[in-house]
Amino acid sequence: MVKSYPTVSGEYRQALEKCKRKLRGLIADKKCAPIMLRLAWHSAGTYDVETKTGGPFGTMRYKEELGHGANNGLDIAIRLLEPIKEQFPIISFADFYQLAGIVAVEITGGPEIPFHPGREDKPKPPKEGRLPDATKGCDHLRDVFIKQMGLSDKDIVALSGGHTLGRCHIDRSGFEGPWTSNPLIFDNSYFKELLSGEKEGLLQLPSDKALLSDPIFRPLVENYAADEDAFFGDYAEAHLKLSELGFAEA
Ligand code: HEM
Repeated sequence: MVKSYPTVSGEYRQALEKCKRKLRGLIADKKCAPIMLRLAWHSAGTYDVETKTGGPFGTMRYKEELGHGANNGLDIAIRLLEPIKEQFPIISFADFYQLAGIVAVEITGGPEIPFHPGREDKPKPPKEGRLPDATKGCDHLRDVFIKQMGLSDKDIVALSGGHTLGRCHIDRSGFEGPWTSNPLIFDNSYFKELLSGEKEGLLQLPSDKALLSDPIFRPLVENYAADEDAFFGDYAEAHLKLSELGFAEA
């Protein structure tokens, strides 16, 4: 897909640079990288290729979308971000949430992800039910990531590595616990833990474990566990695609 990015003003670019510095400070100070990554992903992951609705267009600012069951707890991320957003009225919510996700990966030691500005804020949240269900398996993951979002098998596995950050909260999702022993560090430990089996104090969702039983997914898990550079390269590519679903398409 050839992308044709919109041109933004010098003033907009300057605001983004300044905003990025503020985001680095906030995310480091509040140790909130995981929920910022989840916010960016849940904003983008509602994209539907067929109807060209949903996606990273700032609609998470609406109570309606925050009220979707899959988004439980993301009001916390929005609240943390508000004081920074207020300083940069020129920046769209759409760009702002995706920038927060990219900064979250960067400051926890993950790969640098390119950022292209110019997403517009859309007025209408997507309908509920487009984000993946953690109790389901590979067919469901492919329905959501490939059929609905237009991503690939490789993207599914690489992006699942986002669970190297953060944890589940019983009151938000019904699950409890982190995937790794260093949930504020972005590395390939999610894949190492996944391969080494269940461990006291750590968690694997049914949708994580499903990656081990699929003949296409499993070799990717093994590769990422053995080769962090391979994971970082594929992750950056997949995250960039995720953050630009429905944006700047020719
Ligand atoms: C593959 C399908 C996926 C499923 C079924 C899934 C499911 C979940 C669930 C149930 C939680 C726990 C929420 C909570 O209780 O706070 C969670 C958290 C999280 N997810 Fe996913 N997820 C998926 C993909 C992704 C992707 C693609 C990313 C990012 C690239 C991601 C990043 C995160 C992060 C960073 C957290 C931790 C949030 C925190 O600590 O507050 N997830 N996910």
